[in-house]
This record gives sequence, C-alpha cells and structure tokens, in this order.
Amino acid sequence: MTLDPINLDYEPHLPPKTDYGIAIVGCGTIVTSATLPCYRKHKLNVIGCYDINPEASATLARRFGIPKVYRTLSDLLADPKVEIVEVAVLPRAQLEIVRQVAAARKHLLCQKPLADIYSQAVEIVRLAREAGIKLAVNQQMRWDQAIRAANTLIKRGWIGKPTDAMIQASFFSNIPGTVWAEIPRYEILFHSVHYIDSIRFLFGDPSWITSRHARYPLEGRVLGETKAITVLDYDTGPQVAIAVNMCNPSDERFFIFRFIGTEGVISGTLGISKYPEGEPDSLTWSSNSRCAGLRFEAKLEGTYLPDSFIGPIASLMQAIQENGVPETAGDDNLNTLRIAEAAYKSAAENRSVRLAEIGSER
Ligand SMILES: NC(=O)c1ccc[n+]([C@@H]2O[C@H](COP(=O)([O-])OP(=O)(O)OC[C@H]3O[C@@H](n4cnc5c(N)ncnc54)[C@H](O)[C@@H]3O)[C@@H](O)[C@H]2O)c1
Repeated sequence: MTLDPINLDYEPHLPPKTDYGIAIVGCGTIVTSATLPCYRKHKLNVIGCYDINPEASATLARRFGIPKVYRTLSDLLADPKVEIVEVAVLPRAQLEIVRQVAAARKHLLCQKPLADIYSQAVEIVRLAREAGIKLAVNQQMRWDQAIRAANTLIKRGWIGKPTDAMIQASFFSNIPGTVWAEIPRYEILFHSVHYIDSIRFLFGDPSWITSRHARYPLEGRVLGETKAITVLDYDTGPQVAIAVNMCNPSDERFFIFRFIGTEGVISGTLGISKYPEGEPDSLTWSSNSRCAGLRFEAKLEGTYLPDSFIGPIASLMQAIQENGVPETAGDDNLNTLRIAEAAYKSAAENRSVRLAEIGSER
C-alpha cells in the first residue's frame, strides 16, 4: 500500500511573501551546488553576492544571473535592497561577518555549524538578539523529505511511544588535501550535526550523550575524526544511535534510518548517497507484531540536495513577516551544538556526558 504523500505533509510551507532581497556572502561549493539551484526553483530574489575571492563571486553571479557583485561586505550591507544576508563561509569566518551584518540590522541565515567554538555560537546569537534581527541556521536536514514525513507519522502516533532510533551513514570522502583535512573537530561538527539536529527535531533533547571517535587510515594528513558513533539516551526512555563512517573505501555507500516505537517502525534511506545530485529518499512504515502485516511505502517527491534548502530560508521569511521565531533559530541551534560539544567531551574523557553539563549560557 502507498501512503498518501499529501497526508505526510513533508513539503516545505512557503510564507505569503517570498520576494525579500537576499545577498550571499561566500560563493563556494555549497551555494553553487545546492542553495542557489534550490532558490532558482522557488524564484527567490537573490539580488547580489560577495566573496573575498572576487573570482568566486563573479563566477557565481554569471552562473545564476545574480544582478550585483559587491566589492566589499560594507558595500553589500549599505545596499538598502538587501533584507536578508545569507552567510556560507567556513565557521571560523562567520562571527566577524555576523558582527557587521547585525550592526547593519539585516536578517541573517548562517551556515552550519553556526561556529566551531561553542562560545562563538553564543556570541552570534547574542549579537542577533541585541540587534533585533532574525537569525536562522541552515540546518536543513530537518526539511529532508523522509525526515519531515517521519516527523508527521511520529507526531500523529503511527509508531506509538518512540523507543529506539538509528541513523547510519557510510561513504567515502576524499579528505586529505582539502580544507576539511585541517579541521581538528570534523565529523561530528560538520556532518553528524545534521543527524543530531534531525533527531532533536523528531524526539527532542536527550539527557545523556556518549560518543566514540576514530580516524581511519588515509593517504595524507587529516586532523579531525572521520568516524564516530554517538549514542543519545533520553531520561524518558528512547535511545538513539548515530553511526557515521566517512572513509568506507568500498563502492557501497549507504544512508539508512530506523525509528522504532511501541506500535510501529519507520525505516528508509536518505538519498544523499549520490552526492551532490542526490536521489529521492525512501520511507516505509510497518506495524509491530501486535497487528502484524500492515505496511505502507511512501512515494516521496524531491531530493535532499537541493530541495531541503528551501526549509531554513522559508522559515526565516515566515518569522520576519509574522515577527515569529524561525524553526532553526540561532537560539534553538545552540542546543544542537551543545550535543556536539557533549560528544567531543565524551570521546575525550571516555565517559557519558549529561547534556546539562554543557554551557547553558545564552
Ligand atoms: N548545509 C549543508 O548541508 C552544508 C553542506 C556543505 C557545506 N556547508 C557549510 O557551508 C560552509 C561553506 O562550505 P563550502 O563547502 O561552500 O566551502 P567553500 O570553501 O567551497 O566556500 C566558502 C567560500 O567562502 C569564501 N570566504 C571565506 N571567507 C570569507 C569572508 N570573510 N568573506 C566572504 N567570503 C569568504 C571563500 O573564498 C569561498 O569561496 C561551511 O561552513 C560548511 O560547513 C553546509
């Protein structure tokens, strides 16, 4: 049987007004391969871009027909047509850019991780709050088709009381020689952070975090962890395992999930395995043994890349027009980063860490 896709309510909800003037800061890989292809589909109003490397901004503008290339960040911020600044640089550069954007009082969409040092993320959130601007984080896996559909099913009780969840990703990323090789805390902060945020979206914040990290042998220097297994325990019962291997040398890549409850199970695949083009996710719901035999398959339209990228910006635009809070607001994202910090503490100290141990300052 096929689940009715309308009832799964997995497609992004665009607010009534979507023509805000957007300017991009940082015109590299993610903007080129995912953000702008997605915004073009939805006819968003990208009016300009800026990169410290002028060749990068010129190339992006040519490729996507962006009308204006700014020579400096100050020029971009001085343009009254710019209402939302989208930052897509490595996290170390994000805070200084945010400082200037907040001073200019433009709304902000920042890339994940919001910062690679927790105190800098807190500072970013403080700057946005004090400037009275809306800040959202591009933590878009929450808008992945299967994750969104699973959320609908879980919230409507299709698995009963959640007991157990698993996300496993195994693929090969050629890290040596790239900028990622020089990042000391890599897999959790840059990759698992999406799964951590998705699990928070589905099940809320865990109580305990246990994480083990490894670096697989690669030819060439790599500073950070490339493999991690993280367990999230909830005082309310559920236990979650997130297992990622970025250095699986075989041809078999997989991205699988399973959400188990007292009444049923949701399982499937995330269509990231063909990076960066992607392929549709799969999702199956089946009942547990008490009413054995019931099973539905969902037919999900769209792909994680680029389609999920509409989620954070649509949510930001909605918050601007309703004076509300974006779903992945900076403040909310601090809890995702606290779990990442707890994972590093757990691995370093060979113990389970209570989430409450990690800075709750705002
Ligand atoms: N949301 C996602 O799924 C996702 C996926 C991949 C990457 N990312 C994040 O996006 C960010 C960028 O990743 P990328 O792969 O596009 O990197 P990249 O290196 O390809 O692009 C970054 C660009 O920023 C520019 N830049 C650096 N400092 C700048 C500054 N101060 N002002 C203006 N421009 C500056 C660089 O010249 C470069 O063109 C990273 O933080 C990464 O974690 C997010």
